[in-house]
Amino acid sequence: MQINSNILSLHAVNFFQMTIFYTQDTLKNFVEILKSDGKTIGFVPTMGALHEGHLSLVRNALAGNDIVFVSVFVNPTQFDNATDLKKYPRTLDADVALLKTLGENIFVYAPSVEDIYDSNVHAEKFSFDGLEFEMEGKFRTGHFDGVGTIVKRLFEIVTPDNAYFGEKDFQQLMIIKKLVSKYKIPVKIVGCDIFREASGLAMSSRNQRLSNEARKESAFIHKTLLEAKKKFGTKSATHVKEWVQKQFNKHPLLTLEYVEIANVKNLKTVKRKSKNETYRIFIAAFIENIRLIDNLALN
Ligand code: PAF
Repeated sequence: MQINSNILSLHAVNFFQMTIFYTQDTLKNFVEILKSDGKTIGFVPTMGALHEGHLSLVRNALAGNDIVFVSVFVNPTQFDNATDLKKYPRTLDADVALLKTLGENIFVYAPSVEDIYDSNVHAEKFSFDGLEFEMEGKFRTGHFDGVGTIVKRLFEIVTPDNAYFGEKDFQQLMIIKKLVSKYKIPVKIVGCDIFREASGLAMSSRNQRLSNEARKESAFIHKTLLEAKKKFGTKSATHVKEWVQKQFNKHPLLTLEYVEIANVKNLKTVKRKSKNETYRIFIAAFIENIRLIDNLALN
């Protein structure tokens, strides 16, 4: 697509013929032009280190919109662990090269921390009606305030018609749907299936930090989820969770942080199964000090 070179000024660079916006002001000007031209906008927010999982979100976005923005921003306010933030892979050049393979009409927004937060690098406080206190919320203090802060700001900047999120972060997806409904943000949230490596390991930017052995062993997470699903057909949620814990206790490299079976409506722990409700099983585990999460629909 032809874009007006004036608006690219100094703050947007045409890199390998893919335009990267570094400031929200330049991007907002461009969005205004797109909107006045009647273009629909799809949005894929990311923290970079893109993999096939992200690319599948971008493909979905391209299929449903005229233009797609991909943000690449490692958001400091959603990390409760300084080492994790420091070690998070930052690979903008490789990310841009991957996005280029998907075609035209993709634009990157790669802001600095100052462009997003000015000098106030703090998360706002949110209530997500209790969703934020379950699972990840119990182990990553303030994480969802950080996610809510950045996603709300990005939505205000990009003003997309549709935004795409992977189900690997299922709790995040639910929280973003809640954010949008609470703040009446006019965007449709589209949840997309988990993308897996051939071994079954859910794709994650963190996988890049795993040794070959750890990467191979981490397939155990998905394998255990699949077996748990089979057991859930006949056994109670408590029985299945205890069984999962035992499997991880026997594993030489993986350490289970939590296993939870939750109702997808409110993410509350299942006490008693009901035929009319829908459940999912969630796992967080560490290997080589790297935290991996995964989940699976049970019915
Ligand atoms: O899922 C992620 O990568 C991040 O949490 C998100 C949504 C890009 C916000 O920083």
